[in-house]
Amino acid sequence: MSNLTFGIIKPDAVRAGNHGKIVDRILAAGFKVRGMKLIHQSKKQAEGFYAVHAERPFFGELTEFMSSGPCVVLALEKENAVPAWRDLMGATNPAEAADGTLRKEFASSIGENAVHGSDSDENAAIEIAYFFSKLELV
Ligand code: CMP
Repeated sequence: MSNLTFGIIKPDAVRAGNHGKIVDRILAAGFKVRGMKLIHQSKKQAEGFYAVHAERPFFGELTEFMSSGPCVVLALEKENAVPAWRDLMGATNPAEAADGTLRKEFASSIGENAVHGSDSDENAAIEIAYFFSKLELV
């Protein structure tokens, strides 16, 4: 199990001004922020990032939304980082997210669900490398 994972504070949460509160929650949960930047993805960048979902019916909606405004990309460190970050985020669909999770508090729908997190160590490494150069990781 790796100690690194990748996260995004999505455009809905940044638009609502919740990115500071979410970073606060991440730090309070014991993660170290190894990389963090505010970016505005192009449609092409979002399509590349979510390429595994290219055949899904919601791919257009997803990549349109992810390129609709600024988001915060994060490289996060903690013991068992991937499951720890998924636990803090809560279920993909906020209607199913447990109390105390970020999606319960900040997400409005399955599409606009405030945060993204890697689903495996392998994808965490790929996703961190998609947005960060080695020099941008401390
Ligand atoms: P994320 O963890 O960023 O990875 C893929 C995203 O696709 C997921 O979060 C959801 O926001 C989004 N997604 C999953 N299912 C649907 C759906 N049925 N409609 C719209 N978006 C979806």
